[in-house]
Amino acid sequence: MKKLLLVVLLPFVAVMAQASEQAVSKYYAKTCAICHTSGVANAPKTGVASDWAPRLEKGMDAMVHSVQNGLNAMPPKGMCMSCSADDFKALIEYMSSAK
Ligand code: HEC
Repeated sequence: MKKLLLVVLLPFVAVMAQASEQAVSKYYAKTCAICHTSGVANAPKTGVASDWAPRLEKGMDAMVHSVQNGLNAMPPKGMCMSCSADDFKALIEYMSSAK
């Protein structure tokens, strides 16, 4: 029974991981990076965990909401018109983890 569960779950986990990597490599450089690499207008910088710590406290859903609606200097959807909520989540996870 355990073995069966593994066989069923593993491909699913692999597909999820692949989807988020794709979002990051497809969208990050063309959209979020424009502001979040250098911290334009006080944007939290990619890979600088201390910039993200106070924002992460709000929770992932609140941050996805900020991106979708825009926040101060950040335009709605962070300029990524084709990003889904899951893509934003993957992008935020990528940007907020320390390099
Ligand atoms: C035009 C510049 C710009 C682009 C492009 C941009 N951001 Fe931002 N982002 C900002 C700025 C500025 C802030 C800080 C806003 C504030 O708190 O005043 C910010 C804040 C955020 C936050 C924190 C929100 C919160 O609730 O504290 C997240 C998450 C975020 N950006 C994600 C993204 C993602 C994902 C992308 C790409 C899809 C993106 N941003 C693209 C400028 C940008």
